[in-house]
Amino acid sequence: GLKKKEVHVLCLGLDNSGKTTIINKLKPANAQTQDIVPTIGFSIEKFKTSSLSFTVFDMSGQGRYRNLWEHYYKEGQAIIFVIDSSDKLRMVVAKEELETLLNHADIKHRRMPVLFFANKMDLRDSLSSVKVSQLLSLEHIKDKPWHICASDGLTGEGLQEGVDWLQDQIT
Ligand code: GTP
Ligand code: MG
Repeated sequence: GLKKKEVHVLCLGLDNSGKTTIINKLKPANAQTQDIVPTIGFSIEKFKTSSLSFTVFDMSGQGRYRNLWEHYYKEGQAIIFVIDSSDKLRMVVAKEELETLLNHADIKHRRMPVLFFANKMDLRDSLSSVKVSQLLSLEHIKDKPWHICASDGLTGEGLQEGVDWLQDQIT
């Protein structure tokens, strides 16, 4: 068949937000792993949608590895930024990391779509995607198309909506 267009995506966000869980869920069932452990450094993952072939740089969100992120910015054509909607204490840390990211010379002024997953929507005390969006001041992002979806990385709920949006932005 036709070869799908290849896209490089950066998957970023704090540790324990659910990045690896989400990327795993986007793979075909027979390629998914059962046990997900905290990412060391980063991992390169692949999944396909109807028209695109995604290569994802699934970065570790742990503080000691966050300085690795910037080395991959030039390569990335889009960003998936994952937030743990139940982690109210670290929402301000997520906001700071997002601001640092968006102000980086290799990101700023580029038209890179940014997909936000307000993840762990299943947890009883998680914040809504609207609330997460307010706390991260997403309305201030003017130079990039962005979109936020509530998601549950464990069941996969909300992931398709997000990936459909991303695909529309790229094709
Ligand atoms: P680092 O690799 O350390 O940066 O973390 P990560 O963002 O890749 O998080 P990971 O996917 O390893 O998930 C962290 C924990 O959150 C795991 O125990 C997951 O099972 C859990 N988790 C992920 N998504 C969800 C979700 O939507 N709901 C709930 N309840 N738990 C989730
Ligand atoms: Mg991970």
